Amino acid sequence: MAVSNEELIGRADLDDIDAILATSNSDVDATMHEVAANSSTIFTWDYERTRAPLAKLYEKAKTSQWNANDLPWDTDVDQEKVVEANQAANSYLYQSGVDTTGTPFANWGDKEWLAFGVESQNWTLSQFMHGEQGALICTAQIVETVPWIDAKYYASTQVMDEARHVEVFSRYLDEKLSGHYPINAHLKALLDDIITDSRWDMTYLGMQIMVEGLALASFGFMHQMSTEPLLKQLLRYVMSDEARHVAFGVLSLQEYYEQLSATEIRERQEFAYEAAVRMRDRFLQQEVWERMGVDVKQAVKFVLQAPDRPIFQGMLFSKIVPNCKKLGLLDAADGWLREKFTELGVIQFEDWADTGEEYASLDMVAQDREAARA
Ligand SMILES: [Fe+2]
Ligand SMILES: [Fe+2]
Repeated sequence: MAVSNEELIGRADLDDIDAILATSNSDVDATMHEVAANSSTIFTWDYERTRAPLAKLYEKAKTSQWNANDLPWDTDVDQEKVVEANQAANSYLYQSGVDTTGTPFANWGDKEWLAFGVESQNWTLSQFMHGEQGALICTAQIVETVPWIDAKYYASTQVMDEARHVEVFSRYLDEKLSGHYPINAHLKALLDDIITDSRWDMTYLGMQIMVEGLALASFGFMHQMSTEPLLKQLLRYVMSDEARHVAFGVLSLQEYYEQLSATEIRERQEFAYEAAVRMRDRFLQQEVWERMGVDVKQAVKFVLQAPDRPIFQGMLFSKIVPNCKKLGLLDAADGWLREKFTELGVIQFEDWADTGEEYASLDMVAQDREAARA
């Protein structure tokens, strides 16, 4: 049975800019967003510890907790200087010699690009913060809905991790940056989809595999690009936690998917694809262009055509694709998801390391403690 792009993502053409921009946050002044969950809370009376990989992950999580207050918050951050330094150290869209004739950027000089860099950073960190709250809520939901005691134990440590992540991004925005953005509409829609799905394993697929897989890659990219030491250290520790979270998804779903029928697996493939498209759409930063008074449609069109776009977009999926492969989602149903990921231009990462095991080597908290003892 062929399902069309219209049915899955509401548009035939992936790059249909009008359709992408039609999803926008219409409720920017709200301070609350209520979502009704449809899932059942499961008690288990089976306390036997039968899942060794999850038990190992839980032990690691207990010993690698860290306190947000211990980060060097007294670091002086001059945001404009940092953005200038980042722009000088890395090559960006407007420095790549792209022809801006006829685009909203034709008359932009250093001043405008600097202002854009500042807004873009405010936006990016705001979305990280909102995404972290999504992870906090989804993982609390997993504590309730997953039927396995080892998974409930582990998920409880992730809830603490996510609270700390919301805390650090929120504090960094308040103390070091110059403005907040409301949640991006595509990210919000994705989080709502994940939370309202009644099947407990879909929370894992949406959050631990898709959202957190993207976060892990994207924090790594930002850690590499950033010239600001506090943000670098903050991201380094957040990434250590995220590697465990993605591993939690891979280890749990691996076991569960073995019992699912072909039809059920196919539903998971479609869910993964819809999530991938929503995440790709969110990175078009439509709210930044709006705030800067630029014609959003023209700006997005320009960004989609930028020569470094495929590399950036691909990088975001460098964890998701190998993890989907490990879970059997790429090749089930005659390779349906493989085809979709090929269309999205991200299939080249399928043989990169999956995240089932690498969390131990990515644990920077443990490494720093080891080094301090030596
Ligand atoms: Fe997180
Ligand atoms: Fe996480």
